[in-house]
Amino acid sequence: MNHTISEELFQTLAGEIEALKKDRKAIILAHYYQRPEVQDIADFVGDSLQLSQLAAKTDSEVIVFCGVHFMAESAAILSPDKIVLLPELNAGCPMADMVDAEALRAYKKRVPGVQVVSYVNTSAEVKAESDICCTSANAVKVVESLKGKDILFVPDENLGRYAANILKRPMELWPGYCKTHDRLSKEDILKARQEHPLAKLIVHPECREDICQEADYIGSTAGLINYAQNSENKEFIVGTESGILHRLHQVCPDKEFYLASERLVCPNMKSTTLAKVRDALIALSPRVTVKEGIRVRAKEALDRMLAL
Ligand code: 13P
Ligand code: SF4
Repeated sequence: MNHTISEELFQTLAGEIEALKKDRKAIILAHYYQRPEVQDIADFVGDSLQLSQLAAKTDSEVIVFCGVHFMAESAAILSPDKIVLLPELNAGCPMADMVDAEALRAYKKRVPGVQVVSYVNTSAEVKAESDICCTSANAVKVVESLKGKDILFVPDENLGRYAANILKRPMELWPGYCKTHDRLSKEDILKARQEHPLAKLIVHPECREDICQEADYIGSTAGLINYAQNSENKEFIVGTESGILHRLHQVCPDKEFYLASERLVCPNMKSTTLAKVRDALIALSPRVTVKEGIRVRAKEALDRMLAL
């Protein structure tokens, strides 16, 4: 099970959440980086793209987002008539904080006509200043869809470089990065390769360039899970946040997965607990909302991505 709470407590909290969920007509969405017990009570666990697609089309009255702030904010942008709850309001994304709307506006002034692609790991204000959004699952497709020369990719330098390299298309890259994936070093990879010589190395494109160059496969969290499921290989070194191991073990019980570094833990993703999910459903709070003027413009950038 790998739960971080006792089985008894899990059963109690899961029962309470199930009853509250029905009462509130709520849906619980969780990202693959969440704690195992949170993933186990969710109606759907997915990558950022799948979760935003679901948030856009659900008919539940309440969306409980077990993820980080920008994910709940995207749900609020796409479904303004719904109550969007983020059980731990302080669950932010340090990468998303590396770009703000004011700096982006200043850049656009300096480079008139630049097209801005923003990773969904951004605030609503930044999305509102962007032409189109992308996730790690569709960054290549999104950039490919753009005509014209001047493209700025914010805020993940590593994902931007990955897409630019595949498409052989130069882009300006904002100097942002994920503090969790950045902890993975070349030494970690060499050590893991030595310990598990038969394993394939699968990594997230938020990893640094020197790590991606070593990988057998690079993909979003859902992409990594699909790859492991469809591969004939039995062992994998995993270069992304630890929470993904829960789903990998569930869908590939006969395969071995080795986390490339024990430092691959995102504290923000881990700050949502079952008790906080239950409390959020009781109080219908903390709630994430977006000012209408910003929401409408941010939605245009998200809609352009979802339409692809
Ligand atoms: P994906 O699930 O889209 O691969 O996102 C990774 C991530 O870092 C989310 O914060
Ligand atoms: Fe942000 Fe990285 Fe944590 Fe994802 S894993 S929420 S990108 S800090």
